[in-house]
Amino acid sequence: MKDRSKTKWGLIACAFLVSTGLCASTVVAQTAPATTQYDASSRVFRIDAADSTYVLGINENGQLQTLYWGKRLSANDPFPAAKATSGGGFDLSTSNTPQEFVSWGGGLTVEPDLKITFPDGNRDVVLKYVSHHIDGNTLSVIMKDISREVYVTLEYQPDAETGILRRSATIENRTDAPFTIEQVAAGTWNLPHGTDYRLRYLTGGWAAEWNLQEQSIHPGKTILESRRGTTGAQNNPWFAIDHNVSTDQDEGSVWFGALGWSGSWQIAIEQDMKQQVRVTGGPNAFDFGYLLKKGEKFTTPYFYGGYSAHGIGGASRLLHRFEIDSLLPHHPTPKLRPVLYNSWEATGFDVNEPGQMALAEKAANLGVERFVMDDGWFGGRKNDHAGLGDWYVNPQKFPHGLKPLIDKVHSLNMDFGLWVEPEMVNPDSDLYRKHPDWVLNFPGRPRTEGRNQLVLNLARPDVRAYVYGFLDKLLKENDISFLKWDYNRNWSEPGWPAVPQDQEKNVYVDFTRNFYSILAELRQNHPNVEIESCSGGGSRVDLGVMQYTDEVWPSDNTDAYDRLQIQNGFSYPYTPGVMMAWVTESPTWVNNRTLSLEYRFLSSMQGSLGIGANLNKWTPEELTKATQMVAQYKSIRETVQRGELYRLITPENNSEQSVTETVSRDGKQAVTFAFLHSSTEYSSFPRIFLRGLDENAMYSAHAFAGKLAGDTPAQASGAYWMHHGLDLDLRGDFQAAAFTLTRSN
Ligand code: DGJ
Repeated sequence: MKDRSKTKWGLIACAFLVSTGLCASTVVAQTAPATTQYDASSRVFRIDAADSTYVLGINENGQLQTLYWGKRLSANDPFPAAKATSGGGFDLSTSNTPQEFVSWGGGLTVEPDLKITFPDGNRDVVLKYVSHHIDGNTLSVIMKDISREVYVTLEYQPDAETGILRRSATIENRTDAPFTIEQVAAGTWNLPHGTDYRLRYLTGGWAAEWNLQEQSIHPGKTILESRRGTTGAQNNPWFAIDHNVSTDQDEGSVWFGALGWSGSWQIAIEQDMKQQVRVTGGPNAFDFGYLLKKGEKFTTPYFYGGYSAHGIGGASRLLHRFEIDSLLPHHPTPKLRPVLYNSWEATGFDVNEPGQMALAEKAANLGVERFVMDDGWFGGRKNDHAGLGDWYVNPQKFPHGLKPLIDKVHSLNMDFGLWVEPEMVNPDSDLYRKHPDWVLNFPGRPRTEGRNQLVLNLARPDVRAYVYGFLDKLLKENDISFLKWDYNRNWSEPGWPAVPQDQEKNVYVDFTRNFYSILAELRQNHPNVEIESCSGGGSRVDLGVMQYTDEVWPSDNTDAYDRLQIQNGFSYPYTPGVMMAWVTESPTWVNNRTLSLEYRFLSSMQGSLGIGANLNKWTPEELTKATQMVAQYKSIRETVQRGELYRLITPENNSEQSVTETVSRDGKQAVTFAFLHSSTEYSSFPRIFLRGLDENAMYSAHAFAGKLAGDTPAQASGAYWMHHGLDLDLRGDFQAAAFTLTRSN
């Protein structure tokens, strides 16, 4: 996380310009310095970063209490000392007080951040403030149980550019015996008191990920979670809360957060009896257990949170910027995504040397920069019943190894990528026949298969060594630039019989930690290799895995119309700069829908463009069109992958239209994509009002797909495009258009 401070004058100047509508797109970039301060007289901590302020204080009971989370306040604004909320009726003060991190004990009834069972059966933990330190702008607050030597260090690290706060908790066992952590969270976010809140979150399933849901927050609790062993698609670990009244994408206060964890996780959104909304997030408490031995520490995953005064659109833009500038490998300048070709939808498991070479030649002619061979190249892999775990090149399909294909790909000026699914094994494999004990299992119980495969227990040191070892060897022996790391099932029977019973549940944490450590070690030893996180589509996308991977695969659903909805949902937490989007066949295997090649390209060009079709079937006209679209994409990709995204019309609620606009960081280019499902009667496409432009600058418009209305001026001011707007000549079924605005002064 960066702490690059900008001038105060930038903020003040921008605040003025925003009020006049002139500075919307630069509001994030020009920020006052980030500061973290402690006022000893009131025992209040104050963290200011970018456009937000976060205040917490130590109350008279020694509890750490949230005092403010929201828009940046004046440096001189007062913050009186924290005062615990009184109890009443059945409810004790400890539950009513909006605490930053609260353990189960002392009669607590709200969602805890920590629950421990000690060996003597005691399960009561009550934490009080002990000390703190501030290092740069990172605040660490140390709490301790009232009698036992259990310490908790809460860490708050602000990001100067976006105001996003990274929180974690470290539990330390200084008692003289082990104890079991039964539930743990990074912390709790407390919102201002209120009753009119709305929660946004994401739901989905295979080939149907990233559906945005909205619901009013009522007394009670909503749990977003995965019990699947990994992130899952049923929910994604992200939330956003705003006031029910806001309807504009870019207006109003939004509090949002995301968990950086690729194991089973939970985020509890709770409105308590005092109408306090609390959001608590960490590993899933269901079936959780972590034995913490004497002298050991346990640090939670990071829970990131932020505030936007510019609506849900502003919240997304902050997250996108944070991911690119402060989170992804090679931040703050991660490489732009190359245009890639992937063989999966073209050849399935039927990969071989001549077939892949022929596809590579065609892909290179289109301007593709990376050729990726997907599943099927290894072991006895003919279909999804066999081979996973046996990571040697299949001698029938590639009699001379991978080298001839890789050399061919390089000779075509592309780099080479390969599919792997390292954590899995088919029972029909040499690896499983040799090591049946390496999978997650409960002895004597059935081993439930998913896609005919079992999950290797990556928490085991020998499995970790095997997985790292084969990947390292593969990368050492072959000139591979990219791994597509896949993961195609949920956990079942999550037993770890090789360790003592009281440590078996450590698997939930140790598996994920080893997954991360393998990625980190591979990156360190093969710094030029890029990695994609794929999980049968978008089932492992989160801020944890994104620290180690360069891109993610959002969905196996590559239907270009369905993708509008999928990509829209994805973009709420995650940047289109990592969102791979392939152009595939029409009609598509997903739903038999037929779409024009241009429509398919435009849909994919909203993210990181790839091609996944069988190019042997494309006509010369289609290949020519594709070549043009790839070239066009390269001229806008920096804007699409790095810019500020505005959702002008969302495809939500079965909207007939969908329009996105992305403004480049330097403000010189804006790219707009517009899609029409179907028009009826004589109705026209709604007028498009751009956002994020400089009102006084001049921009020239150019449609590179579809047509602007005949009366559209060739050039006009930012004010004109934003307030007068422009019309598209878009009618019919499954039509699309796209245009750029290029700043000329
Ligand atoms: C699931 C992935 O999402 C697909 O893209 C493809 O790689 C298959 N697995 C291969 O088995």
